[in-house]
Amino acid sequence: MSLQPEITIGLVGHVDHGKTTLTERLTGKWTDTHSEEMKRGITIRLGYANAEFREISGKKGTEKYTVKKKVEGKETKLLRKVSFVDAPGHESLMATMLSGAKLMDGALLMVAANEQCPQPQTAEHLMALEISGIKNVVIVQNKIDLISEDKIIKNYEQIKKFLKGTSYENSPIIPISAQHGVNVDLLIETIEKEIQTPKRNGKADLQIIIARSFDVNKPGTKIKNLIGGVLGGAVLQGSINEGDTIEIKPGRTVEEQNKIVAKPIITKVISLMTGTEKVKILTPGGSVALLTELDPGVVKSDALAGSLVGHKGKLPDVLYELNLDIKLLDRVVGSKEELKVDPLKTNEILMLTVNSAATVGIIKEISKDKINCSLKKPICASKGDRVTISRRIGTRFRLIGYGIINY
Ligand code: GTP
Ligand code: MG
Repeated sequence: MSLQPEITIGLVGHVDHGKTTLTERLTGKWTDTHSEEMKRGITIRLGYANAEFREISGKKGTEKYTVKKKVEGKETKLLRKVSFVDAPGHESLMATMLSGAKLMDGALLMVAANEQCPQPQTAEHLMALEISGIKNVVIVQNKIDLISEDKIIKNYEQIKKFLKGTSYENSPIIPISAQHGVNVDLLIETIEKEIQTPKRNGKADLQIIIARSFDVNKPGTKIKNLIGGVLGGAVLQGSINEGDTIEIKPGRTVEEQNKIVAKPIITKVISLMTGTEKVKILTPGGSVALLTELDPGVVKSDALAGSLVGHKGKLPDVLYELNLDIKLLDRVVGSKEELKVDPLKTNEILMLTVNSAATVGIIKEISKDKINCSLKKPICASKGDRVTISRRIGTRFRLIGYGIINY
């Protein structure tokens, strides 16, 4: 079996409902590592961690699934390697959640059983999954250790009612306690059934979506010991080999005559990583990292997040404006009171997310179901790609619909 995880599953849902706790339960890794996250006790940036889903051989009935290599001294059997992307639930971090959505092949929607369902971001994240075209979702009813059985059932009924009429009406709802590790085996079993690895195109032109980029050198490292810039993300299609020359688009952006201009980058890949393992080739699937010859200063602090990686000359165009076929929602979700979505207006400022890139678009032209926007920051995307559209309502950007790129 390949060392590379074959699928990415997102953890989404309202703030504090237990996404990071479940990520740790499944992967052994606590992904809130930034000082601000630890201080405030909330997730701020996307978290990444891998797990191995395993089967306890010879066991029938309960406790058949695990993430442990050994159970009661006996080796377990590897079923699938899975990457998780842990999204923030705080309402002010919706753009981060949306930029993670493109990485997700399926998702777990976390719902805390001890609160009324839906909470604002339960609804907004569910809508974001729907708009992003994510089909396979498992609902996780968490924190069942905090309430009595009849309250758990009442909460289950609320969840059922909330899902009615959405694409996830028939998604399974699994009651768990992430903190106490209750029913996690049933959750794994359900994920194995419901969120299968999609068919991928390993033969198409390479496209890697960069979700983060960083400098791994400690301050004060001597120049001769410096390691090149690291790009983290997922292969959407095609494959890449160690030593390949790659192009990164839009790449760096610089301001020239009051306009932000893309400067695509050509560089070489020194090595390819999946988790902590080096590999010679990467194919479509879960989280991966590319160690490049780039100056670490160019990649630091996620400077290249949102760009695409491909082989030279094979990536889609850099776009400075977008023509979109749009579909707006009827109502704004995510705020305390539900509001009607008013029609778009010329010169309105929108937040657009495409691939893992967020950009600001200003509406230049509107006709019935189409808009033309000029972009503050260029993006690299293809005809037919989906763009999520948010608008400022009060102090926050709220999801109001999506568009399909039509050159
Ligand atoms: P954000 O990323 O900020 O949206 O939060 P989150 O969804 O990642 O929640 P997190 O995992 O940080 O958990 C929030 C709080 O709930 C922490 O204090 C956890 O210990 C607690 N918690 C998580 N799961 C459970 C559970 O199953 N039972 C109980 N009692 N507490 C839980
Ligand atoms: Mg979290």
